[in-house]
Amino acid sequence: MTTPAKVQNNTYHNLTYEEKHGDLKGVALVTFNRPKVLNAISQAMLEELLTVLEHVQKSHVIKVLVLTGAGDKAFIAGADISQFEKMTSKEAAELAKFGQKVFTRLEELPQPTIAAVNGYALGGGCELALSCDFIYAGENAQLGQPEVNLGILPGWGGTQRLSRLVGKPMAKELVFTGKIIYAHEAQRLGIVNKVCHDAQLMEDVMKIAKLILSKGPLAIAQAKRVIEDGYHKELIDALEMEAEAFAKIFDTEDQKEGARAFLAKRPPQFVGR
Ligand code: COA
Repeated sequence: MTTPAKVQNNTYHNLTYEEKHGDLKGVALVTFNRPKVLNAISQAMLEELLTVLEHVQKSHVIKVLVLTGAGDKAFIAGADISQFEKMTSKEAAELAKFGQKVFTRLEELPQPTIAAVNGYALGGGCELALSCDFIYAGENAQLGQPEVNLGILPGWGGTQRLSRLVGKPMAKELVFTGKIIYAHEAQRLGIVNKVCHDAQLMEDVMKIAKLILSKGPLAIAQAKRVIEDGYHKELIDALEMEAEAFAKIFDTEDQKEGARAFLAKRPPQFVGR
């Protein structure tokens, strides 16, 4: 495993990155783009994703990040298995740590992130989707952690994020069996927020993205931070954090605008200050 090389001049070979315009201005779209291997995640793709996330984190324009897979067969069918045969334990540790770092970066992005799961989201693909704020999936999408089929276990957060989401017994069943489930079953388990017709998936995702765009971005960023950070705290401490965030938002122009617009019976014009 080589040390991650900085992506040159934001030129991507394993994904595409697009900032939308018009009524979707504020939405950025990452499309994982290795369709010949069902968008399997290589080291280079992870590095490119990290570069994108660093850019989005600094951006004042991007309000929602959507992630999807190229082609109609897969979101991401896992880590690239071709690298595993000769991988040493030391290299595996580096791969696990680097992937975890990138996915945690994704999870901690101040902007909302939506995984548009269009096909297989397996192994690292499922783990990546679980690191987004929520998942919309096509009706034929299939999700799972099939690592045990390869004699390995999830290494990019799958054992941890999945069990926190669906509870330990269900996470154990999924991880121990490598069972792959359809979108409706994943929705029943609370993994997927909405199941869409396959052809309608991106339209539905952009609809929810647009709804989010119309709200106060500072409030959303604070709400996201408090939900994330509070999840691992005692309720009493998490509530304290919520109260601090609630107070802080009252120092912003957007909060005054929100109240003013409501009272004047007009739509608010949020400026992100
Ligand atoms: N890494 C590397 N290559 C992969 C891959 C992965 N995770 N998943 C799929 N591919 C490649 C296949 O090797 C195949 O390449 P080829 O055309 O050169 O033979 C190509 O993508 C298409 O996959 P294929 O297996 O022919 O498609 P399918 O429709 O028969 O099966 C899956 C789809 C997703 C069920 C199957 O590809 C699969 O089980 N992939 C691995 C899933 C996995 O274990 N992920 C966790 C990895 S830790």
